[in-house]
Amino acid sequence: MSRRDFFKVLEKEVARIDEASVTKRKEHLIEGFTQEASPKALINGKTYRIFNSNDYLGLRHHRKLKKAEHQMTELCGTGPGAVRFISGSFKVHRDLEKALANFHGQEDAMVFSSAFATNLAVLFSLIKGQSKDSLLQSEALVISDELNHRSIIDGIRVANLASEQKAIFKHLDPKSLEEILAKNSKKFKRALVVTDGVFSMLGEYQNLKKLRTIINRYDKIYPEGVLLVVDDCHGVGAFGKTGRGTEEVSGAKADVMISTLGKGLGADGGYVAGKQAIIDYLRESAATYIYSNSISPGTAAAALAAVKLIDTETGAKLLRNLENNLAYVKKELLALGFQFAAESIHPIQAILIGDTAKTKALTQKMFERGFMLTNINYPVVPKGKDEIRVQISASHNKADLKAFLKNIKEVGKELEII
Ligand SMILES: Cc1ncc(COP(=O)(O)O)c(C=O)c1O
Repeated sequence: MSRRDFFKVLEKEVARIDEASVTKRKEHLIEGFTQEASPKALINGKTYRIFNSNDYLGLRHHRKLKKAEHQMTELCGTGPGAVRFISGSFKVHRDLEKALANFHGQEDAMVFSSAFATNLAVLFSLIKGQSKDSLLQSEALVISDELNHRSIIDGIRVANLASEQKAIFKHLDPKSLEEILAKNSKKFKRALVVTDGVFSMLGEYQNLKKLRTIINRYDKIYPEGVLLVVDDCHGVGAFGKTGRGTEEVSGAKADVMISTLGKGLGADGGYVAGKQAIIDYLRESAATYIYSNSISPGTAAAALAAVKLIDTETGAKLLRNLENNLAYVKKELLALGFQFAAESIHPIQAILIGDTAKTKALTQKMFERGFMLTNINYPVVPKGKDEIRVQISASHNKADLKAFLKNIKEVGKELEII
């Protein structure tokens, strides 16, 4: 026996994954983009219209973000050089944090290398103290929506809680949440309710107002109250009249708002926003903030430009374009005879196909015709619920949308989906 035997085990595991048709590593490599208002990806010299990106407002190609990034990179260099508490904190990081706090109507914010890293550290830190001397011991109950993102699941996992401290409420079901809060009110000091704002598989959103009403009731019953933690990675910069996401759409606020700079905001990185007490504590305890580099100054400048831009007339126009594009595509797809896997008012629209082979054939044929789409198959979704996830952007122009609809109609007919 040697490490060669271990490599064989790894090879077998990869073969098992390939056999189960859930391979992720064979990505398309984008070499660049066409230089136009509605940029297309370049792959092997061919152009592709992207209908599977989270760049909901098209901000990653916006000249203001690019300019801000270039200027800051000239001034500060390409990387942070160290973690934040050593010498990796730049004024632009703080400016961005203040702008994000202001954007969400919160007291403060802090930036991480990604939203995944944010979820890992924020959940761990709010659930558990960092050391045995910490005043914050693990006396929390964590209640999570059953379809929450992997980064939330892992954030709870790393806290290594006893099984009775973890509960799952039924997807988008406030009653189920209430039952869990009621059943456990005498057992725990505090509770953390954690949910995605927008669920990325189907584009559904959590009605935060309904959760908030229940949480406020139980906040008075648990000795240290109940916190609502929302991951709104697909909501911010994509959803709501002013792009403030699920809070804006459902008319209620989170206590702890976690999101990404790498989707609607067109840059990269993650952040958390909340009350000063929470952010001060997290700056002292969140391991992926303390012991890991932050985003580069250039990226922070691009993200800051995005946050500022959303609140201008340009931002409002992009949000309106997105809304109009979404309404048009939805209406036309329905008219063509496609069905949706869920009712969604978000730029994520999941077309229900139901058959794994047809789902894969559709994305493949659309790719050959110059369109990038994502198929989502069993076991990620239940058997018979295979879907094509279409993501609409403000940067799609009428020609893009018309070309997409014409081609998906032809392929849909060829595969007898419509
Ligand atoms: C709901 C949700 N949370 C977290 C993340 C991770 O975001 P990031 O790429 O910034 O780590 C994603 C991205 O896929 C997401 O959809």
